[in-house]
Amino acid sequence: MPDAPLLPLVGKITQALKDAPKDIRKVLDGAGKDDILDPTYPYRAGLDRKTYEARMGQLQLQLVRMMHDVVATGKRLVVLFEGRDAAGKGGTIERTRENLNPRSAYIVALPTPTEREAGQWYFQRYVDWLPAAGEIALFDRSWYNRGIVERVFGFSTEQQRNAFFRQLPGFERTLVDDGIVLVKLWLNVGRAEQLRRFLDREADPLKQWKMSRIDVEGLAKWDDYTQAIHDTLNLSHSPIAPWTVIRSDDKRRARIAAIQTILNAVDFAGKDAAAIGTPDPAVTGGPDLLD
Ligand code: ADP
Ligand code: MLT
Repeated sequence: MPDAPLLPLVGKITQALKDAPKDIRKVLDGAGKDDILDPTYPYRAGLDRKTYEARMGQLQLQLVRMMHDVVATGKRLVVLFEGRDAAGKGGTIERTRENLNPRSAYIVALPTPTEREAGQWYFQRYVDWLPAAGEIALFDRSWYNRGIVERVFGFSTEQQRNAFFRQLPGFERTLVDDGIVLVKLWLNVGRAEQLRRFLDREADPLKQWKMSRIDVEGLAKWDDYTQAIHDTLNLSHSPIAPWTVIRSDDKRRARIAAIQTILNAVDFAGKDAAAIGTPDPAVTGGPDLLD
Protein backbone atom coordinates (compact mmCIF):
# COMPACT_ATOMS: atom_id res chain seq x y z
CA MET A 1 0.00 0.00 0.00
CA PRO A 2 1.25 3.50 -0.71
CA ASP A 3 1.86 5.85 2.18
CA ALA A 4 -1.69 7.13 2.55
CA PRO A 5 -0.95 9.99 4.99
CA LEU A 6 1.08 11.79 2.31
CA LEU A 7 -1.67 11.95 -0.23
CA PRO A 8 -3.77 14.62 1.50
CA LEU A 9 -0.83 16.96 0.90
CA VAL A 10 -1.07 16.59 -2.86
CA GLY A 11 -2.68 19.73 -4.23
CA LYS A 12 -1.60 21.86 -1.29
CA ILE A 13 1.39 23.32 -3.15
CA THR A 14 -0.76 24.41 -6.09
CA GLN A 15 -3.12 25.95 -3.56
CA ALA A 16 -0.28 27.74 -1.76
CA LEU A 17 1.02 29.07 -5.06
CA LYS A 18 -1.64 31.75 -5.11
CA ASP A 19 -0.30 33.13 -1.83
CA ALA A 20 3.26 33.40 -3.15
CA PRO A 21 4.55 36.93 -3.81
CA LYS A 22 3.54 38.28 -7.19
CA ASP A 23 7.08 38.64 -8.53
CA ILE A 24 7.81 35.00 -7.72
CA ARG A 25 4.64 33.85 -9.49
CA LYS A 26 5.54 35.98 -12.47
CA VAL A 27 8.98 34.41 -12.74
CA LEU A 28 7.43 30.94 -12.59
CA ASP A 29 4.75 31.71 -15.17
CA GLY A 30 7.13 32.91 -17.82
CA ALA A 31 9.82 30.31 -17.26
CA GLY A 32 11.05 27.71 -19.72
CA LYS A 33 11.80 24.25 -18.35
CA ASP A 34 15.56 24.75 -18.30
CA ASP A 35 15.69 28.42 -17.35
CA ILE A 36 17.48 29.45 -14.19
CA LEU A 37 14.83 31.35 -12.26
CA ASP A 38 16.84 33.45 -9.81
CA PRO A 39 17.87 36.67 -11.58
CA THR A 40 20.88 37.01 -9.24
CA TYR A 41 22.24 33.54 -10.09
CA PRO A 42 25.55 33.99 -11.93
CA TYR A 43 24.59 31.79 -14.93
CA ARG A 44 21.51 32.03 -17.12
CA ALA A 45 21.36 28.33 -17.97
CA GLY A 46 22.14 25.11 -16.19
CA LEU A 47 25.41 23.31 -16.91
CA ASP A 48 25.05 21.19 -20.04
CA ARG A 49 24.68 17.46 -19.54
CA LYS A 50 27.87 16.50 -21.36
CA THR A 51 30.13 18.73 -19.30
CA TYR A 52 28.32 17.65 -16.14
CA GLU A 53 28.72 13.96 -16.82
CA ALA A 54 32.40 14.27 -17.70
CA ARG A 55 33.14 16.23 -14.51
CA MET A 56 30.99 13.94 -12.41
CA GLY A 57 32.83 10.91 -13.79
CA GLN A 58 36.18 12.32 -12.68
CA LEU A 59 34.85 13.24 -9.26
CA GLN A 60 33.23 9.83 -8.73
CA LEU A 61 36.58 8.19 -9.35
CA GLN A 62 38.16 10.44 -6.74
CA LEU A 63 35.39 9.63 -4.26
CA VAL A 64 36.08 5.93 -4.68
CA ARG A 65 39.80 6.50 -4.07
CA MET A 66 38.93 8.55 -1.03
CA MET A 67 36.77 5.73 0.30
CA HIS A 68 39.57 3.18 -0.17
CA ASP A 69 41.88 5.41 1.82
CA VAL A 70 39.30 6.12 4.53
CA VAL A 71 38.83 2.38 4.99
CA ALA A 72 42.52 1.51 4.76
CA THR A 73 43.70 4.16 7.20
CA GLY A 74 40.70 4.28 9.52
CA LYS A 75 39.70 7.87 8.85
CA ARG A 76 36.28 9.15 9.92
CA LEU A 77 34.30 11.60 7.82
CA VAL A 78 31.11 13.49 8.63
CA VAL A 79 29.36 15.52 5.95
CA LEU A 80 26.34 17.62 6.88
CA PHE A 81 23.96 18.36 4.00
CA GLU A 82 21.78 21.27 4.96
CA GLY A 83 19.52 23.65 3.11
CA ARG A 84 15.94 24.77 2.76
CA ASP A 85 13.35 22.22 1.69
CA ALA A 86 13.93 21.17 -1.92
CA ALA A 87 17.42 22.68 -1.99
CA GLY A 88 18.71 19.44 -3.48
CA LYS A 89 20.16 17.70 -0.45
CA GLY A 90 18.73 14.31 -1.35
CA GLY A 91 20.06 14.28 -4.92
CA THR A 92 23.48 15.57 -3.88
CA ILE A 93 23.76 12.87 -1.24
CA GLU A 94 22.77 10.22 -3.79
CA ARG A 95 25.45 11.36 -6.23
CA THR A 96 28.03 11.37 -3.44
CA ARG A 97 27.12 7.89 -2.27
CA GLU A 98 26.23 6.05 -5.46
CA ASN A 99 29.58 4.38 -6.10
CA LEU A 100 30.61 3.91 -2.49
CA ASN A 101 30.33 0.75 -0.42
CA PRO A 102 27.18 1.15 1.71
CA ARG A 103 29.04 -0.49 4.57
CA SER A 104 31.54 2.38 4.64
CA ALA A 105 29.37 5.27 3.52
CA TYR A 106 25.91 5.59 5.02
CA ILE A 107 23.15 8.19 5.08
CA VAL A 108 21.77 9.49 8.34
CA ALA A 109 18.28 10.96 7.92
CA LEU A 110 16.77 10.99 11.39
CA PRO A 111 13.02 11.37 11.88
CA THR A 112 11.33 13.74 14.32
CA PRO A 113 12.74 13.09 17.80
CA THR A 114 10.79 10.59 19.88
CA GLU A 115 9.51 11.64 23.27
CA ARG A 116 12.44 9.88 24.90
CA GLU A 117 14.93 11.60 22.56
CA ALA A 118 13.30 14.95 23.24
CA GLY A 119 14.21 14.40 26.87
CA GLN A 120 17.90 13.73 26.16
CA TRP A 121 20.87 15.97 25.68
CA TYR A 122 20.06 17.46 22.24
CA PHE A 123 23.18 16.14 20.50
CA GLN A 124 22.82 12.64 21.94
CA ARG A 125 20.89 10.96 19.13
CA TYR A 126 23.31 12.40 16.56
CA VAL A 127 26.30 11.08 18.49
CA ASP A 128 24.88 7.57 18.03
CA TRP A 129 25.36 7.94 14.27
CA LEU A 130 28.89 9.37 14.20
CA PRO A 131 31.31 7.28 12.16
CA ALA A 132 33.75 4.72 13.50
CA ALA A 133 37.14 4.19 11.85
CA GLY A 134 36.78 3.69 8.10
CA GLU A 135 33.28 5.18 7.89
CA ILE A 136 31.71 8.11 6.09
CA ALA A 137 28.47 9.49 7.57
CA LEU A 138 26.36 11.60 5.23
CA PHE A 139 23.81 13.56 7.27
CA ASP A 140 20.61 14.53 5.45
CA ARG A 141 19.82 17.34 7.89
CA SER A 142 21.53 17.38 11.21
CA TRP A 143 21.74 19.00 14.62
CA TYR A 144 21.20 22.31 12.81
CA ASN A 145 17.46 21.58 12.87
CA ARG A 146 17.46 23.21 16.30
CA GLY A 147 18.54 26.58 14.92
CA ILE A 148 16.35 26.56 11.83
CA VAL A 149 13.22 24.40 11.36
CA GLU A 150 12.67 24.13 15.12
CA ARG A 151 12.84 27.90 15.49
CA VAL A 152 10.59 28.61 12.50
CA PHE A 153 7.96 26.10 13.64
CA GLY A 154 8.37 26.63 17.38
CA PHE A 155 9.31 22.98 18.01
CA SER A 156 11.71 23.98 20.78
CA THR A 157 12.03 26.87 23.18
CA GLU A 158 14.32 29.86 23.01
CA GLN A 159 16.06 28.53 26.09
CA GLN A 160 16.76 25.22 24.32
CA ARG A 161 18.04 27.12 21.30
CA ASN A 162 20.33 29.26 23.42
CA ALA A 163 21.73 26.14 25.05
CA PHE A 164 22.26 24.64 21.60
CA PHE A 165 24.28 27.60 20.37
CA ARG A 166 26.29 27.66 23.60
CA GLN A 167 27.19 23.99 23.29
CA LEU A 168 27.63 23.86 19.53
CA PRO A 169 31.19 25.21 19.21
CA GLY A 170 32.42 22.85 21.91
CA PHE A 171 30.57 19.92 20.38
CA GLU A 172 31.98 20.46 16.89
CA ARG A 173 35.44 21.23 18.26
CA THR A 174 35.35 17.92 20.14
CA LEU A 175 34.57 15.99 16.95
CA VAL A 176 37.36 17.68 15.02
CA ASP A 177 39.79 17.41 17.94
CA ASP A 178 39.12 13.68 18.05
CA GLY A 179 40.18 13.37 14.40
CA ILE A 180 36.83 13.43 12.61
CA VAL A 181 36.83 15.36 9.34
CA LEU A 182 33.74 17.58 9.50
CA VAL A 183 32.31 19.13 6.32
CA LYS A 184 29.28 21.40 6.57
CA LEU A 185 27.45 22.12 3.32
CA TRP A 186 24.61 24.60 2.97
CA LEU A 187 22.71 24.29 -0.32
CA ASN A 188 21.00 27.55 -1.13
CA VAL A 189 17.92 27.59 -3.36
CA GLY A 190 15.98 30.63 -4.58
CA ARG A 191 12.32 31.07 -3.81
CA ALA A 192 10.93 30.58 -7.31
CA GLU A 193 13.11 27.51 -7.87
CA GLN A 194 11.97 26.02 -4.57
CA LEU A 195 8.35 26.45 -5.62
CA ARG A 196 9.03 24.93 -9.02
CA ARG A 197 10.57 21.87 -7.38
CA PHE A 198 7.63 21.52 -4.99
CA LEU A 199 5.21 21.70 -7.93
CA ASP A 200 7.20 19.02 -9.78
CA ARG A 201 7.12 16.89 -6.68
CA GLU A 202 3.41 17.29 -6.30
CA ALA A 203 2.81 16.22 -9.90
CA ASP A 204 5.09 13.18 -9.79
CA PRO A 205 3.82 10.02 -8.02
CA LEU A 206 7.45 8.94 -7.61
CA LYS A 207 8.31 12.11 -5.74
CA GLN A 208 5.17 12.80 -3.75
CA TRP A 209 6.60 10.97 -0.75
CA LYS A 210 9.11 13.79 -0.36
CA MET A 211 6.35 16.25 0.50
CA SER A 212 5.65 16.99 4.12
CA ARG A 213 3.51 19.24 6.22
CA ILE A 214 6.70 21.19 6.95
CA ASP A 215 7.23 21.80 3.22
CA VAL A 216 3.67 23.03 2.70
CA GLU A 217 3.46 25.21 5.79
CA GLY A 218 7.02 26.39 5.32
CA LEU A 219 6.06 28.08 2.04
CA ALA A 220 4.45 30.91 3.98
CA LYS A 221 7.49 31.17 6.25
CA TRP A 222 10.16 32.06 3.72
CA ASP A 223 11.25 35.20 5.57
CA ASP A 224 11.31 33.50 8.97
CA TYR A 225 13.56 30.86 7.46
CA THR A 226 15.80 33.53 5.95
CA GLN A 227 16.33 35.08 9.38
CA ALA A 228 16.87 31.74 11.13
CA ILE A 229 19.32 30.59 8.46
CA HIS A 230 21.24 33.86 8.58
CA ASP A 231 21.57 33.75 12.38
CA THR A 232 22.42 30.05 12.50
CA LEU A 233 25.10 30.12 9.84
CA ASN A 234 26.74 33.20 11.24
CA LEU A 235 26.77 31.80 14.77
CA SER A 236 28.26 28.48 13.66
CA HIS A 237 30.80 29.44 11.01
CA SER A 238 34.24 29.01 12.53
CA PRO A 239 37.76 28.23 11.31
CA ILE A 240 37.61 24.68 12.64
CA ALA A 241 34.04 24.02 11.44
CA PRO A 242 33.36 26.35 8.53
CA TRP A 243 30.27 26.32 6.34
CA THR A 244 30.50 25.99 2.60
CA VAL A 245 27.49 27.67 1.02
CA ILE A 246 26.62 26.45 -2.48
CA ARG A 247 24.08 28.15 -4.69
CA SER A 248 21.96 25.27 -5.89
CA ASP A 249 19.49 26.74 -8.37
CA ASP A 250 21.44 24.72 -10.92
CA LYS A 251 21.52 21.24 -9.42
CA ARG A 252 24.39 20.08 -11.62
CA ARG A 253 26.77 22.86 -10.67
CA ALA A 254 25.75 22.43 -7.03
CA ARG A 255 26.45 18.70 -6.98
CA ILE A 256 29.85 19.21 -8.55
CA ALA A 257 30.78 21.94 -6.07
CA ALA A 258 29.56 19.86 -3.13
CA ILE A 259 31.61 16.81 -4.08
CA GLN A 260 34.67 18.96 -4.79
CA THR A 261 34.33 20.48 -1.31
CA ILE A 262 34.18 17.04 0.30
CA LEU A 263 37.17 15.75 -1.66
CA ASN A 264 39.23 18.83 -0.90
CA ALA A 265 38.59 18.40 2.84
CA VAL A 266 40.18 14.94 3.01
CA ASP A 267 43.78 13.91 2.43
CA PHE A 268 43.87 10.54 0.73
CA ALA A 269 46.23 8.32 -1.22
CA GLY A 270 45.74 8.73 -4.94
CA LYS A 271 44.21 12.19 -4.58
CA ASP A 272 44.44 14.09 -7.83
CA ALA A 273 44.05 17.75 -6.91
CA ALA A 274 43.95 18.79 -10.56
CA ALA A 275 41.12 16.36 -11.36
CA ILE A 276 39.16 17.61 -8.35
CA GLY A 277 39.76 21.30 -8.96
CA THR A 278 38.38 24.13 -6.87
CA PRO A 279 34.64 24.71 -6.49
CA ASP A 280 33.37 27.43 -8.81
CA PRO A 281 33.67 30.65 -6.75
CA ALA A 282 30.64 32.07 -8.58
CA VAL A 283 28.40 29.52 -6.84
CA THR A 284 30.47 28.60 -3.76
CA GLY A 285 31.51 30.57 -0.69
CA GLY A 286 30.89 31.16 3.00
CA PRO A 287 27.76 32.45 4.78
CA ASP A 288 28.28 35.87 3.21
CA LEU A 289 27.10 34.33 -0.06
CA LEU A 290 23.60 34.42 1.42
CA ASP A 291 23.56 38.19 1.95
P1 ADP B 1 12.62 16.43 5.05
O1 ADP B 1 12.45 17.72 4.33
O2 ADP B 1 13.95 16.25 5.66
O3 ADP B 1 12.16 15.26 4.28
P2 ADP B 1 10.40 17.38 6.72
O4 ADP B 1 10.20 18.46 5.71
O5 ADP B 1 9.23 16.53 7.06
O6 ADP B 1 11.62 16.45 6.34
O7 ADP B 1 10.89 18.01 8.08
C1 ADP B 1 12.00 18.84 8.16
C2 ADP B 1 12.73 18.58 9.44
O8 ADP B 1 11.94 19.02 10.53
C3 ADP B 1 13.05 17.10 9.68
O9 ADP B 1 14.40 16.97 10.00
C4 ADP B 1 12.15 16.75 10.84
O10 ADP B 1 12.73 15.77 11.68
C5 ADP B 1 12.00 18.06 11.56
N1 ADP B 1 10.77 18.06 12.36
C6 ADP B 1 9.52 17.86 11.91
N2 ADP B 1 8.64 17.90 12.95
C7 ADP B 1 9.36 18.14 14.06
C8 ADP B 1 9.05 18.30 15.46
N3 ADP B 1 7.81 18.22 15.91
N4 ADP B 1 10.08 18.52 16.31
C9 ADP B 1 11.34 18.58 15.88
N5 ADP B 1 11.70 18.44 14.59
C10 ADP B 1 10.73 18.23 13.68
C1 MLT C 1 16.02 18.29 -0.85
O1 MLT C 1 15.72 18.12 -2.04
O2 MLT C 1 16.66 19.26 -0.45
C2 MLT C 1 15.61 17.26 0.16
O3 MLT C 1 16.09 16.05 -0.23
C3 MLT C 1 14.11 17.16 0.30
C4 MLT C 1 13.50 18.31 1.07
O4 MLT C 1 14.14 18.88 1.94
O5 MLT C 1 12.35 18.65 0.81
